[in-house]
Amino acid sequence: MTNESHYAHHRSLCADSLKEEVLLSFRGQTQYPIQGPWSTSKTSQARVDITFEDATRNILVTGATGSGKTVSVMEPALKRLIDTGCSGLVLTSKPQDLGVAIAHPEQCRVVGGSRLCTPVNLIADLPGEILVGILDRFRANTQSRDRHWGSRGLDYALFVYETYRLMGREPTLACIHNALASTREFVEEFDPWFAQRDPSELPESYRTLLTNIQNDFFNILAHGGSMHVQQAQHPRRRDEAMMQYTWHTGPILTVLRPFAMEDRLRLRLCNPQAGALDFQRLLYDEPTVVFSDIPPHEFGQNAAVVNEILRILMRNAVLRETRHQELGMGESRFTFLVADEFQSHVHLQAAGTGGGLLDDNTWFDRSREYGHINIVATQGLSSLYAQLPPETPSAAVESLFQNLGTMIAFSSHDRKTLNAAGDHLYGPDAERIRQLVASSLATGEAAVLSRSLSRHGGAVAAHVRNTPIFGAPHMTYGHSRHERKVPTDRYDAPAAARIVEPAHPKRQGQRLVEAVEAHDVAGVEAALVVGASPNTRAEDGESMLMAAVDHEIHAYYHPDEEHSHKHIMELLLAYGADPDVPAGGGWGEFSAWTPWQVAEYFDRPDLARRLRAHRRMERRHAPHR
Ligand SMILES: Nc1ncnc2c1ncn2[C@@H]1O[C@H](COP(=O)(O)OP(=O)(O)OP(=O)(O)O)[C@@H](O)[C@H]1O
Ligand SMILES: [Mg+2]
Repeated sequence: MTNESHYAHHRSLCADSLKEEVLLSFRGQTQYPIQGPWSTSKTSQARVDITFEDATRNILVTGATGSGKTVSVMEPALKRLIDTGCSGLVLTSKPQDLGVAIAHPEQCRVVGGSRLCTPVNLIADLPGEILVGILDRFRANTQSRDRHWGSRGLDYALFVYETYRLMGREPTLACIHNALASTREFVEEFDPWFAQRDPSELPESYRTLLTNIQNDFFNILAHGGSMHVQQAQHPRRRDEAMMQYTWHTGPILTVLRPFAMEDRLRLRLCNPQAGALDFQRLLYDEPTVVFSDIPPHEFGQNAAVVNEILRILMRNAVLRETRHQELGMGESRFTFLVADEFQSHVHLQAAGTGGGLLDDNTWFDRSREYGHINIVATQGLSSLYAQLPPETPSAAVESLFQNLGTMIAFSSHDRKTLNAAGDHLYGPDAERIRQLVASSLATGEAAVLSRSLSRHGGAVAAHVRNTPIFGAPHMTYGHSRHERKVPTDRYDAPAAARIVEPAHPKRQGQRLVEAVEAHDVAGVEAALVVGASPNTRAEDGESMLMAAVDHEIHAYYHPDEEHSHKHIMELLLAYGADPDVPAGGGWGEFSAWTPWQVAEYFDRPDLARRLRAHRRMERRHAPHR
């Protein structure tokens, strides 16, 4: 079927009101529900029906591992939403979750770090302030000492982003990283561009940003040697500026670095040619379901960053759309968010923080009016609470539960989950519900609790089970989950990554050697950024990166040599140095050591651990070594 006839087919299917149709349906397990009646659907079966409209009041699915959340709720709902031509975003957390997308290739698109993914420029449609808000949130995860540490780096990131925009270049996460890490290259672009501008023609906001940046003596332009800022004259002052700059950009670079360094992420999420992930078109014009394919066990914190950006892009598209009514949103069509492992996505506003990011309470409260459905799952509310910043007001948590109209609670012993099932939705039968969820539920059985379900004429609390249901064949779709084959090797690094010096090995290698000879550390870093190997060494075995750093160590880095060595270790690791290769000449007593041993020596177990993990990963990806 062509795309067009495909969607026409869907439109004919859902020309009538979809809102009263059943999205989820479960078989009752007792003669009467604990509260409310069974569904009034014309059927002799005792069942609970959740319509599309009911679902716009949002659904929370809880339950211990293996209790049946995915099979019994998430996949049936997803199947139904896809079959009715709805569009949305699915944040997956397990590789097998992609089965649904693979089974519906025409309606689904995959974004993330696997080879199933369509390359995009993830931030092409993201306003600069929102990007900075995200960086701010994730930099906080990398260190907890001092909020100020790294705060100026956010402004430099925004500055780079806005500058590229004004230059007519699409910034990516990777090129923001590269500009912050190789300031000289950035300044080489910035200086001539800025010299040709009439400052009065630049947007006011940009001029303010520039002034703000120029006020730091250690700012990105000063660091890169720009002629448009005052340079510190005294060497001491210059050293201090270098150090300050490193401190302020370090935490953000940690968040951004994988997007520049890891081929899987760079090629698929930071592709300037690929353009934006245009959610407005995907949601409203050619109903598409976007799946994220970037599981945390493969991608660590990067997964959270990507999923958060996807979520924000989708929300912005929904909020920006003006044709909801005309398109029949909330009547004959719906958009949706289906998110497993909700605890890793939840974002509630902590008191006093704004940051331009819409928090989940506001979103869960407002999304209903746009015909949007949120279905979120988590193993237990304790893990959800644990993810919230300690300063989150309890009112925010309570209001989150107010905004979750229906709870489907599979078996769980988590006390907070049991309390929520008992208290938040239901007073009188709280104890019965708690006992049911805690003790007697088999896999695929659940307590459904809702303040209002239209086919029940109001509130319901009932013991149900996911089994075949007459008239709702999608309810058993999850049972064939394991028959849907998904390629398990799809996270392997792209073939090019195995080649140590991709594309133009001679040129990159040459660039590196030239930079070393010019004693230019920034130049060396820049060459590494564009793909030269950090393991490149001279004939006598000297590591190129080490050599460059060694020449300039006192001028460029912290005067304290030990501090510098630590910094260099981080650099080496960041650029993919092989921990098994000795550090190379010019290092005195360290020269015979591997980077990993140096990290151990300087009592940096974190670094040593990363180096060792890195080595394991290398081995896995390159078994021939
Ligand atoms: N309704 C059901 N009928 C029969 N078996 C079921 C049902 N629901 C789930 N199962 C079985 O239980 C297993 C685990 O279910 P599922 O993957 O849905 O759990 P989960 O709650 O999503 O777990 P996790 O938190 O680890 O993702 C399934 O592989 C399936 O074999
Ligand atoms: Mg699951």
